[in-house]
Amino acid sequence: MNILILGSGGREHALGWKIRQSPLTKHLFFAQGNAGTASLGININVDYNDFEAVKQTVLENKIDLVVVGPEEPLVKGIVNYFFNDKELNGVKIIGPSKNGAQLEGSKDFAKKFMHRHNIPTARYLSIKSHNIVAAMDFMKQLQPPYVLKADGLAGGKGVLIIDDYAQACLELKNMHAGKFGDASKIVVIEEFLKGSELSVFVLTDGENYLILPEAKDYKRIGEGNTGLNTGGMGAISPVPAADTDFMKKVEEQIIKPTINGIKSEKIGYKGFIFFGIMNVNGNPYLIEYNVRMGDPETQVVLPRLKNDIVDLFIALHNKQLQEKTIEIYNGFVVTIVLVSGGYPENYNKGIKILNIENVDNSILFHSGTAIEYGKLVTNGGRVFAVTSFGETIESAREQAIDSANLINFEGKYFRKDIGS
Ligand code: AMP
Ligand code: GLY
Repeated sequence: MNILILGSGGREHALGWKIRQSPLTKHLFFAQGNAGTASLGININVDYNDFEAVKQTVLENKIDLVVVGPEEPLVKGIVNYFFNDKELNGVKIIGPSKNGAQLEGSKDFAKKFMHRHNIPTARYLSIKSHNIVAAMDFMKQLQPPYVLKADGLAGGKGVLIIDDYAQACLELKNMHAGKFGDASKIVVIEEFLKGSELSVFVLTDGENYLILPEAKDYKRIGEGNTGLNTGGMGAISPVPAADTDFMKKVEEQIIKPTINGIKSEKIGYKGFIFFGIMNVNGNPYLIEYNVRMGDPETQVVLPRLKNDIVDLFIALHNKQLQEKTIEIYNGFVVTIVLVSGGYPENYNKGIKILNIENVDNSILFHSGTAIEYGKLVTNGGRVFAVTSFGETIESAREQAIDSANLINFEGKYFRKDIGS
């Protein structure tokens, strides 16, 4: 098969790395990819939000299967676009329909869906700007801190957690006034849940599902989970706190009702679901849905998966997922993200990177890298994810740190406490 992966981060490099291992894969393409994906296939300079351009790429390269990495094209309806186009109709595309993608694209839609299907989640109220009084009343019923979420996509920045009531009221007004553009025209106010977070992933054909290895990502820039939020500074899998009992509850109380809801509401869905879960005293609550894999979670989840992923994608497309079983590597996997100095605020790009060829005991997934005048340079805040295996989390982490130390670029920073 000829396969096209949309996206250009570490997640897409990891997807490509896994897809490349399949004997079913013939030619592999990325739009747009990065310096790492260029060693697995062909990078094409096409914007994945430009569906016409994606169509031309698919037709010119006789693509049989498209894997969509990021959420944006899904929320914009790329799956419907393929489905409705005569020339693209036969191409398999991994992802939900536009309607299904609303599970990530609108927090209000997701919360209503959770309520319809009795899925445990934080109490909430959706608020438009004329309803500020109702919002203030609702917040008075809650204990601080207050959780304010932009309804729409906001590049991972649309959630504010605020201790002070007056400050929360002010931020609510700022959000309605366009703090996150149109995404915060509706704000979802939520009860704050205290517990530990976990990411659970499934592949679904809209009726059947397979549970992939779970993961935990580390969002803060600083060690000890301090400082600003980032796209993710590292991840581990498996997650020790997610024991069999807890995962059984996740499946019964969250995964099954979600899949049944998708089926009963006739939502077209052939792709990944990422459940962001809070473990509150041993009980799972659903914080959010994402309609794609996570970054950097993919960089620990896929290395644990023994199955041929292309075979799973084909089964998913043929609604035969129930015939497959997931096989996983039972050791520990840790990924550490190397970032540019200054990230998640201002940072420079185009900084020369040296010595990646010295990394031989870890898998090096590229995120923000590019080739400029024949040289490898930084091209983003998150530059690499270094993934290592071990019998314990500690040994996997030590290996990842050793590999991270081998790579040089000015301003390089990474957390040494991932998984501790
Ligand atoms: P989201 O963009 O929905 O993933 O939210 C970003 C982060 O905010 C989550 O990963 C949680 O750490 C935190 N968060 C979101 N909702 C809640 C909640 N109701 N209670 C506590 N923390 C939350
Ligand atoms: N690492 C969180 C995400 O991919 O949304």
